[in-house]
Amino acid sequence: MIEELEELRKRALEDLGRVQDRKLLEEWRVSYLGKRSALTSALRGIGTLTPDDRKIVGQLANDVKRDIEEAFDGQRQSLDRQEREAELAREHVDVTLPGRPLLAGQYHPLTITVNDIVGAFRGLGYDVVEGPEVEWERYNFSLLNIPAEHPARDRWDTFYVKPTEGLAEGSVVLRTHTSPMQARVMERTKPPIRVLVPGRCFRFEATDATHESEFTQIEALAVDEGLSFADLKGTLDAFVHAVFGPERRTRFRVDYFPFVEPGAEMAIDCHGCHGTGCRICKGSGWLEIMGAGMVHPRVLEGVGIDSSRYSGFAFGMGAERVAMLKYGIDDIRIFQQNDLRFLKQFR
Ligand code: FA5
Repeated sequence: MIEELEELRKRALEDLGRVQDRKLLEEWRVSYLGKRSALTSALRGIGTLTPDDRKIVGQLANDVKRDIEEAFDGQRQSLDRQEREAELAREHVDVTLPGRPLLAGQYHPLTITVNDIVGAFRGLGYDVVEGPEVEWERYNFSLLNIPAEHPARDRWDTFYVKPTEGLAEGSVVLRTHTSPMQARVMERTKPPIRVLVPGRCFRFEATDATHESEFTQIEALAVDEGLSFADLKGTLDAFVHAVFGPERRTRFRVDYFPFVEPGAEMAIDCHGCHGTGCRICKGSGWLEIMGAGMVHPRVLEGVGIDSSRYSGFAFGMGAERVAMLKYGIDDIRIFQQNDLRFLKQFR
């Protein structure tokens, strides 16, 4: 029996060396450690032996059982490890592969331009405020010294949201300019005032290379004691040089806006032809970018500011026109076409 047990251990361990997968391991376990295995029947037969033999054979049988079980555990762990390694090899990630590039967003050229202008005026001490795009007629016109039926209203082709008889106080319009914020700011702020108002404006007009029905203006308003036209010109010079560089030529001409006196328009030499005349500037050599002037005393009084003590200047520029000059863009309509080939050029 001792020889049988020794032989059994030898065979079991040899067979186990050939087991290379889980199925064979299970078959091996049933055959060497299962209920009907030679080892189990040897263990059962121990009871029939004499006490002396039982001690020796029992001890050996237990050793053999322990060796076989330990070998089984070892082989099972080794198979587990091999399987894990095979799985890891299958799922191997090559971290050296370059990643797929992400489509990064970027600012619209108009946003870049507005931010540049806002930055230039912040440096001059201006606050930035925004106002409503849907506006009372009172702010868009009446408080700017443009009463109902005044012919100057024809200058702004207006979208009326809610017309009332004679386009009077109760009408609601899409603001035609950012100037209504002059009245709104002065109503709630005591001088000294220095504000910049960027925002969208709307006009019912035919579009061409320099006109859109939806466009952006940037309004500036300064009110203080002793402000003069010289302050206005100095401020505009500082702005043009900051945004376009010192070599750019500007032109001031008298213009009429009911809410300023005197009034002016400022133009910059056309980037398309450098002043000789082309399609962009309609042959004039100049591109008008803003209206400007000294705030009319009637506008100051209308919002409760003493015009004998305070004076002010204001201007409103077209942000698209500024962007066109800055980047050499020859058609304003491209700003709203969402053409990525155009938009990707601005960083
Ligand atoms: C005004 O709108 C006045 N509120 C400006 C102003 C403010 C004058 C303060 C005095 C004091 P105007 O209609 O000229 O003015 O427009 C001002 C600028 O807006 C123009 O010079 C132009 O650059 C831009 N602009 C006007 N209409 C359009 C349009 N349809 N498309 C694109 N830009 C426009």
